[in-house]
Amino acid sequence: MSADAAIQVRGLQKSYGKQEVLRGVDFEVARGSIFALLGSNGAGKTTTIRILATLLRADAGTATVNGFDVAEHADDVRQSISLTGQFAAVDEILSGRENLVLVAKLRHLPDPGTVADDLLARFSLTEAGARRVATYSGGMRRRLDIAMSLIGDSPVIFLDEPTAGLDPEARIEVWQLVKELAGSGTTVLLTTQYLDEAEQLADRIAILHQGRIIANGTLAELKQLLPPAKVEYVEKQPTLEEIFLAIIGDKR
Ligand SMILES: Nc1ncnc2c1ncn2[C@@H]1O[C@H](COP(=O)(O)OP(=O)(O)OP(=O)(O)O)[C@@H](O)[C@H]1O
Ligand SMILES: [Mg+2]
Repeated sequence: MSADAAIQVRGLQKSYGKQEVLRGVDFEVARGSIFALLGSNGAGKTTTIRILATLLRADAGTATVNGFDVAEHADDVRQSISLTGQFAAVDEILSGRENLVLVAKLRHLPDPGTVADDLLARFSLTEAGARRVATYSGGMRRRLDIAMSLIGDSPVIFLDEPTAGLDPEARIEVWQLVKELAGSGTTVLLTTQYLDEAEQLADRIAILHQGRIIANGTLAELKQLLPPAKVEYVEKQPTLEEIFLAIIGDKR
Protein backbone atom coordinates (compact mmCIF):
# COMPACT_ATOMS: atom_id res chain seq x y z
CA MET A 1 0.00 0.00 0.00
CA SER A 2 1.19 3.50 -0.65
CA ALA A 3 1.07 5.64 2.48
CA ASP A 4 -0.11 8.76 0.72
CA ALA A 5 -3.09 7.29 -1.11
CA ALA A 6 -6.20 9.43 -0.67
CA ILE A 7 -8.44 6.36 -0.57
CA GLN A 8 -7.49 2.82 0.43
CA VAL A 9 -9.96 -0.03 0.35
CA ARG A 10 -9.09 -3.53 1.59
CA GLY A 11 -11.28 -6.61 1.58
CA LEU A 12 -14.53 -4.68 1.73
CA GLN A 13 -17.61 -6.86 2.12
CA LYS A 14 -21.27 -5.93 2.29
CA SER A 15 -24.42 -8.01 2.07
CA TYR A 16 -28.05 -7.00 2.09
CA GLY A 17 -29.80 -9.95 3.68
CA LYS A 18 -28.63 -12.98 1.71
CA GLN A 19 -27.45 -10.91 -1.24
CA GLU A 20 -23.67 -10.53 -1.18
CA VAL A 21 -23.03 -7.27 -2.99
CA LEU A 22 -19.36 -6.67 -2.14
CA ARG A 23 -17.26 -9.82 -1.63
CA GLY A 24 -13.83 -8.42 -0.96
CA VAL A 25 -13.21 -5.18 -2.79
CA ASP A 26 -9.65 -3.81 -2.93
CA PHE A 27 -8.37 -0.66 -4.55
CA GLU A 28 -6.53 2.58 -3.85
CA VAL A 29 -6.73 6.04 -5.28
CA ALA A 30 -3.68 8.32 -5.44
CA ARG A 31 -4.03 11.90 -4.26
CA GLY A 32 -5.04 14.36 -6.92
CA SER A 33 -6.05 11.63 -9.34
CA ILE A 34 -9.33 10.71 -10.97
CA PHE A 35 -10.45 7.13 -10.38
CA ALA A 36 -13.43 5.68 -12.24
CA LEU A 37 -15.39 2.79 -10.84
CA LEU A 38 -17.27 1.00 -13.62
CA GLY A 39 -19.87 -1.68 -13.26
CA SER A 40 -23.25 -2.83 -14.47
CA ASN A 41 -26.46 -1.80 -12.73
CA GLY A 42 -26.49 -3.33 -9.27
CA ALA A 43 -22.75 -4.11 -9.26
CA GLY A 44 -22.31 -2.26 -5.96
CA LYS A 45 -20.84 1.08 -7.04
CA THR A 46 -23.22 3.20 -4.96
CA THR A 47 -22.83 0.79 -2.04
CA THR A 48 -19.04 1.27 -2.18
CA ILE A 49 -19.39 5.05 -2.26
CA ARG A 50 -21.86 5.02 0.62
CA ILE A 51 -19.40 3.03 2.74
CA LEU A 52 -16.54 5.40 1.88
CA ALA A 53 -18.74 8.40 2.67
CA THR A 54 -19.64 6.86 6.09
CA LEU A 55 -23.33 6.58 5.19
CA LEU A 56 -23.21 2.80 5.43
CA ARG A 57 -21.14 0.36 7.47
CA ALA A 58 -19.22 -2.46 5.81
CA ASP A 59 -19.64 -6.01 7.13
CA ALA A 60 -15.90 -6.67 6.85
CA GLY A 61 -12.74 -5.10 5.48
CA THR A 62 -11.25 -1.67 5.99
CA ALA A 63 -11.28 1.63 4.17
CA THR A 64 -9.49 4.90 4.77
CA VAL A 65 -10.26 8.26 3.21
CA ASN A 66 -7.77 11.11 3.51
CA GLY A 67 -5.88 8.94 6.00
CA PHE A 68 -8.90 8.35 8.28
CA ASP A 69 -10.56 5.01 8.86
CA VAL A 70 -14.20 5.26 7.77
CA ALA A 71 -15.46 3.17 10.68
CA GLU A 72 -13.22 4.56 13.45
CA HIS A 73 -13.00 8.20 12.44
CA ALA A 74 -16.20 8.91 10.57
CA ASP A 75 -16.24 12.58 11.62
CA ASP A 76 -12.77 13.22 10.20
CA VAL A 77 -13.77 11.45 7.01
CA ARG A 78 -16.87 13.63 6.69
CA GLN A 79 -14.74 16.75 7.11
CA SER A 80 -12.56 15.55 4.24
CA ILE A 81 -15.16 14.70 1.63
CA SER A 82 -18.01 15.92 -0.40
CA LEU A 83 -20.51 13.67 -2.08
CA THR A 84 -22.70 14.14 -5.10
CA GLY A 85 -25.12 11.26 -4.89
CA GLN A 86 -26.65 9.39 -7.78
CA PHE A 87 -29.91 11.28 -7.38
CA ALA A 88 -29.87 15.06 -7.11
CA ALA A 89 -29.98 16.19 -3.50
CA VAL A 90 -31.19 19.72 -4.13
CA ASP A 91 -34.07 21.41 -2.31
CA GLU A 92 -36.89 21.98 -4.79
CA ILE A 93 -38.63 24.70 -2.81
CA LEU A 94 -35.54 26.89 -2.65
CA SER A 95 -33.99 28.71 -5.58
CA GLY A 96 -30.68 27.54 -7.00
CA ARG A 97 -28.92 30.43 -5.31
CA GLU A 98 -30.59 29.70 -1.96
CA ASN A 99 -29.45 26.07 -2.16
CA LEU A 100 -25.86 27.21 -2.66
CA VAL A 101 -26.04 29.82 0.11
CA LEU A 102 -27.45 27.19 2.46
CA VAL A 103 -24.53 24.82 1.88
CA ALA A 104 -21.98 27.65 2.15
CA LYS A 105 -23.50 28.60 5.51
CA LEU A 106 -23.47 24.98 6.68
CA ARG A 107 -19.79 24.90 5.76
CA HIS A 108 -19.24 28.12 7.78
CA LEU A 109 -17.79 30.06 4.85
CA PRO A 110 -17.37 33.82 5.37
CA ASP A 111 -19.24 35.14 2.35
CA PRO A 112 -21.98 32.67 1.27
CA GLY A 113 -23.57 35.08 -1.23
CA THR A 114 -20.37 35.55 -3.22
CA VAL A 115 -19.63 31.82 -3.13
CA ALA A 116 -23.13 31.18 -4.52
CA ASP A 117 -22.87 33.79 -7.27
CA ASP A 118 -19.44 32.53 -8.39
CA LEU A 119 -20.71 28.98 -8.66
CA LEU A 120 -23.87 30.02 -10.48
CA ALA A 121 -21.71 31.77 -13.06
CA ARG A 122 -19.31 28.84 -13.36
CA PHE A 123 -22.19 26.41 -13.97
CA SER A 124 -24.12 28.67 -16.38
CA LEU A 125 -26.95 29.01 -13.88
CA THR A 126 -26.84 32.75 -13.24
CA GLU A 127 -30.08 33.47 -15.09
CA ALA A 128 -31.92 30.64 -13.36
CA GLY A 129 -30.34 31.37 -9.98
CA ALA A 130 -33.34 33.14 -8.48
CA ARG A 131 -35.86 30.55 -9.68
CA ARG A 132 -37.15 27.66 -7.62
CA VAL A 133 -35.31 24.43 -8.36
CA ALA A 134 -38.68 22.75 -8.95
CA THR A 135 -38.71 24.53 -12.33
CA TYR A 136 -35.21 23.35 -13.37
CA SER A 137 -34.51 20.75 -16.05
CA GLY A 138 -32.75 17.52 -15.07
CA GLY A 139 -29.43 18.83 -16.36
CA MET A 140 -29.76 22.08 -14.45
CA ARG A 141 -30.47 20.18 -11.21
CA ARG A 142 -27.47 17.98 -11.84
CA ARG A 143 -25.21 20.99 -12.40
CA LEU A 144 -26.52 22.66 -9.26
CA ASP A 145 -25.97 19.44 -7.30
CA ILE A 146 -22.35 19.25 -8.44
CA ALA A 147 -21.87 22.97 -7.71
CA MET A 148 -23.11 22.36 -4.15
CA SER A 149 -20.57 19.59 -3.68
CA LEU A 150 -17.71 21.93 -4.64
CA ILE A 151 -18.39 24.34 -1.79
CA GLY A 152 -15.71 24.16 0.86
CA ASP A 153 -12.83 22.70 -1.17
CA SER A 154 -12.92 19.15 0.17
CA PRO A 155 -9.74 17.19 -0.57
CA VAL A 156 -11.77 14.15 -1.70
CA ILE A 157 -14.87 14.27 -3.87
CA PHE A 158 -17.22 11.39 -4.63
CA LEU A 159 -19.33 11.73 -7.74
CA ASP A 160 -21.87 8.95 -8.23
CA GLU A 161 -22.77 9.01 -11.93
CA PRO A 162 -22.15 12.75 -12.25
CA THR A 163 -23.30 13.09 -15.84
CA ALA A 164 -26.27 10.74 -15.89
CA GLY A 165 -29.01 12.44 -17.86
CA LEU A 166 -26.91 15.38 -19.03
CA ASP A 167 -26.82 16.46 -22.66
CA PRO A 168 -23.47 16.14 -24.46
CA GLU A 169 -22.56 19.78 -23.98
CA ALA A 170 -23.31 19.70 -20.25
CA ARG A 171 -21.36 16.44 -19.92
CA ILE A 172 -18.31 18.06 -21.47
CA GLU A 173 -18.67 20.99 -19.05
CA VAL A 174 -18.74 18.60 -16.11
CA TRP A 175 -15.73 16.70 -17.46
CA GLN A 176 -13.81 19.95 -17.77
CA LEU A 177 -14.66 20.82 -14.21
CA VAL A 178 -13.65 17.42 -12.85
CA LYS A 179 -10.32 17.74 -14.67
CA GLU A 180 -9.79 21.19 -13.15
CA LEU A 181 -10.54 19.82 -9.69
CA ALA A 182 -8.00 17.03 -10.05
CA GLY A 183 -5.53 19.51 -11.54
CA SER A 184 -5.74 21.58 -8.38
CA GLY A 185 -5.05 18.55 -6.20
CA THR A 186 -8.52 17.25 -5.37
CA THR A 187 -8.96 13.49 -5.46
CA VAL A 188 -12.01 12.39 -7.43
CA LEU A 189 -13.69 9.01 -7.21
CA LEU A 190 -16.48 8.75 -9.74
CA THR A 191 -18.77 6.02 -10.89
CA THR A 192 -20.13 5.92 -14.35
CA GLN A 193 -22.05 3.80 -16.82
CA TYR A 194 -20.56 5.79 -19.69
CA LEU A 195 -17.38 4.10 -20.75
CA ASP A 196 -16.32 7.06 -22.86
CA GLU A 197 -16.53 9.16 -19.71
CA ALA A 198 -14.01 6.89 -18.00
CA GLU A 199 -11.81 6.98 -21.11
CA GLN A 200 -11.91 10.77 -21.20
CA LEU A 201 -11.43 11.49 -17.54
CA ALA A 202 -9.91 8.78 -15.45
CA ASP A 203 -6.25 8.26 -14.57
CA ARG A 204 -7.22 4.76 -13.48
CA ILE A 205 -10.25 2.66 -14.17
CA ALA A 206 -11.54 -0.26 -12.08
CA ILE A 207 -14.27 -2.66 -13.03
CA LEU A 208 -16.52 -3.95 -10.24
CA HIS A 209 -18.19 -7.21 -11.15
CA GLN A 210 -19.87 -9.86 -9.01
CA GLY A 211 -18.63 -8.26 -5.84
CA ARG A 212 -14.97 -7.87 -6.73
CA ILE A 213 -12.65 -5.61 -8.68
CA ILE A 214 -11.85 -7.74 -11.71
CA ALA A 215 -9.68 -5.22 -13.54
CA ASN A 216 -7.83 -2.10 -12.41
CA GLY A 217 -5.41 -0.05 -14.43
CA THR A 218 -4.83 2.83 -16.75
CA LEU A 219 -6.70 2.81 -20.03
CA ALA A 220 -3.49 1.70 -21.77
CA GLU A 221 -3.09 -1.19 -19.30
CA LEU A 222 -6.69 -2.29 -19.76
CA LYS A 223 -6.27 -2.21 -23.52
CA GLN A 224 -3.43 -4.71 -23.19
CA LEU A 225 -5.81 -7.22 -21.65
CA LEU A 226 -7.23 -7.74 -25.11
CA PRO A 227 -5.35 -9.32 -28.00
CA PRO A 228 -3.83 -6.72 -30.36
CA ALA A 229 -6.15 -5.26 -32.93
CA LYS A 230 -6.36 -7.27 -36.15
CA VAL A 231 -5.33 -5.61 -39.36
CA GLU A 232 -7.90 -6.17 -42.02
CA TYR A 233 -8.94 -3.18 -44.06
CA VAL A 234 -8.52 -0.73 -41.18
CA GLU A 235 -6.69 -1.13 -37.90
CA LYS A 236 -9.12 -0.83 -35.06
CA GLN A 237 -8.18 -0.08 -31.46
CA PRO A 238 -10.53 -1.65 -28.94
CA THR A 239 -12.76 0.84 -27.16
CA LEU A 240 -13.07 0.64 -23.40
CA GLU A 241 -16.60 -0.63 -24.01
CA GLU A 242 -15.26 -3.65 -25.91
CA ILE A 243 -12.68 -4.31 -23.19
CA PHE A 244 -15.38 -4.01 -20.53
CA LEU A 245 -17.71 -6.44 -22.30
CA ALA A 246 -14.91 -8.91 -23.05
CA ILE A 247 -13.71 -8.94 -19.44
CA ILE A 248 -17.21 -9.31 -18.05
CA GLY A 249 -18.07 -11.95 -20.65
CA ASP A 250 -15.08 -14.05 -19.50
CA LYS A 251 -16.40 -14.10 -15.96
CA ARG A 252 -20.02 -14.97 -16.67
N1 LIG B 1 -30.66 -0.70 1.18
C1 LIG B 1 -30.65 -1.79 0.42
N2 LIG B 1 -31.36 -2.89 0.77
C2 LIG B 1 -31.35 -4.01 0.02
N3 LIG B 1 -30.64 -4.14 -1.12
C3 LIG B 1 -29.93 -3.09 -1.53
C4 LIG B 1 -29.89 -1.86 -0.79
N4 LIG B 1 -29.09 -0.99 -1.44
C5 LIG B 1 -28.65 -1.65 -2.54
N5 LIG B 1 -29.14 -2.90 -2.59
C6 LIG B 1 -28.85 -3.90 -3.62
O1 LIG B 1 -27.44 -4.03 -3.73
C7 LIG B 1 -27.04 -4.18 -5.08
C8 LIG B 1 -26.02 -3.11 -5.41
O2 LIG B 1 -26.64 -1.85 -5.41
P1 LIG B 1 -25.86 -0.50 -5.77
O3 LIG B 1 -26.84 0.59 -5.64
O4 LIG B 1 -24.63 -0.42 -4.95
O5 LIG B 1 -25.47 -0.77 -7.29
P2 LIG B 1 -24.86 0.23 -8.37
O6 LIG B 1 -23.63 -0.43 -8.90
O7 LIG B 1 -24.73 1.59 -7.82
O8 LIG B 1 -25.99 0.19 -9.50
P3 LIG B 1 -26.53 1.35 -10.50
O9 LIG B 1 -25.60 1.36 -11.65
O10 LIG B 1 -27.88 0.83 -10.91
O11 LIG B 1 -26.59 2.63 -9.74
C9 LIG B 1 -28.31 -4.11 -5.91
O12 LIG B 1 -28.72 -5.42 -6.19
C10 LIG B 1 -29.30 -3.44 -4.98
O13 LIG B 1 -30.60 -3.89 -5.25
MG1 LIG C 1 -25.55 3.40 -8.23
